Amino acid sequence: MPLDSLLASIPPGHPDEALVRQVNLEQLPAHVAIIMDGNGRWAAQRHLPRVEGHRNGIQSVRDTVETAARLGCQVLTLYAFSIENWKRPLTEVSTLMSLLKRYLRSELDTLLSNDIRFRVIGRAHELSPDVREELDRAVTRTADRTGMIFNLALNYGGRAELVDAVREALRTGMTPDDLDEARFAGLLSTAGQPDPDLLIRTSGEMRVSNFLLWQIAYSEIYVTDTLWPDFRRRHLLEAVLAYQKRDRRYGGIKDPHAVIGAP
Ligand code: IPE
Ligand code: IPE
Ligand code: MG
Repeated sequence: MPLDSLLASIPPGHPDEALVRQVNLEQLPAHVAIIMDGNGRWAAQRHLPRVEGHRNGIQSVRDTVETAARLGCQVLTLYAFSIENWKRPLTEVSTLMSLLKRYLRSELDTLLSNDIRFRVIGRAHELSPDVREELDRAVTRTADRTGMIFNLALNYGGRAELVDAVREALRTGMTPDDLDEARFAGLLSTAGQPDPDLLIRTSGEMRVSNFLLWQIAYSEIYVTDTLWPDFRRRHLLEAVLAYQKRDRRYGGIKDPHAVIGAP
């Protein structure tokens, strides 16, 4: 039975068990995208350097990846480093890159055992060779996995992705008549994947910060005040439950037959 693997990882009587049992498997978000924010504030609240927030955010990544995979999501996309994040102090950027390398090295076996296919979205070719090497290894080793796709957005910007897609269209000689929305989506880094149904942002900020601009056209947005290093299985389940109460209309109306006078 689905959910068994998630329930098996929760000690009996743990409050998360009740949350899992409320999830409607027929209405799971196929794609969950998360803007992991608030690491710096988490550290500041504890009078620690910002990088301690990033360090503590790794456990949140582990918990989220495993929960999403066990829940049965098809795709999870985590925003780890934006194109604009290069504006940060060099020491912070280099710590983020070393944490990333360490995470990839230590988590590869867990990704494999959870049948997860790891991918990178963003201008990965601009990252340093040592980081690219770890990324390539994780992508190659998990390439034949058939479970959840885990996209890590690194050196990612939504506008850059759109520009790159247009460049690709021009480079390959596409004509105006060749392009429609479906073909354009096929030029993006998420080609072939469903658009995010649920977009989560932690730390209470009400903005998208250049994340998946094309793909989030009709995503349900869930903002939580929880700071990323505090985000755990429970918070993801709460977001999924909130998503399942939403009424998605895609520009239409809820139930045409309920409207008096409707054909
Ligand atoms: C998110 O936390 C991590 C990255 C953007 C890499 P922040 O570092 O942005 O934390 P705040 O927003 O300053 O609290
Ligand atoms: C968005 O967070 C980028 C990532 C989570 C990687 P930021 O902290 O960089 O975004 P702003 O600056 O608050 O918009
Ligand atoms: Mg931030």
